Amino acid sequence: MTTLEKAEAAEHALSQELDRIVLKSVIYTSGERDPRQPVVRPDNGKLVMMGHDPRLPKMPERPTLMDFFRLRFGPTQHMLQSARLAQKSGAGEKVVMACLVHDIAIAGFIRGDHGYWAAQLVEPYVDEEVAWAIRYHQALRFFPDESVGYAYPQMYVKLFGADYKVEPYIERDAEYARQHTWYMTSRLICVNDLYAFDPTLRVELDEFTDVIGRNFKQPTEGLGFDASPSAHMWRTINWPTKYL
Ligand SMILES: [Fe+2]
Ligand SMILES: [Fe+2]
Repeated sequence: MTTLEKAEAAEHALSQELDRIVLKSVIYTSGERDPRQPVVRPDNGKLVMMGHDPRLPKMPERPTLMDFFRLRFGPTQHMLQSARLAQKSGAGEKVVMACLVHDIAIAGFIRGDHGYWAAQLVEPYVDEEVAWAIRYHQALRFFPDESVGYAYPQMYVKLFGADYKVEPYIERDAEYARQHTWYMTSRLICVNDLYAFDPTLRVELDEFTDVIGRNFKQPTEGLGFDASPSAHMWRTINWPTKYL
């Protein structure tokens, strides 16, 4: 096949794919539309999307964490900067690893309760303490700890208003985390999180190849295709418009 023929074949395949009907999951539109309203699938003889969505870059057959960073996550500088900051402050690799992925739910999945979602995503692949720390950074972020110089983020006043009060489950989980042996690991995510926005700084993912290699058990089948309890979540990030 010549290059032109190859390009034409690829384009043809793409247009065939785009002929498929895409119905978004309820969670993607709930709020913008009332989920109780019936969803009508256009009955135009077309097939539905049942795998890779050609509007997205194609993932390798056995995707790694780095592939998700590069091909599915939104801007990741915040996490990379936070991980580098942790590293520079002399934090251990567990903290660096936790910082590196602490907001992956925001970057690639679901924003609300992002600490819990991110913890669940990585839990089968990282040290228990890393997942724990990520889960509880969600709650601890709202509570100061002067012993490590962590104050309530000014940004939260701006974002949520001065009179914002956390829900009881956040208060409960922060209280629980405060009593836990791994408290400081989680707290250090918050400490390195706060100052991790610098638009002039560019941190490359490659900087963390070794940290990931040592601290993230990449499944040989690829993330999403192993039988872990969170594999389906990675598949959903890979194929977000899959009909069933
Ligand atoms: Fe976060
Ligand atoms: Fe963050």
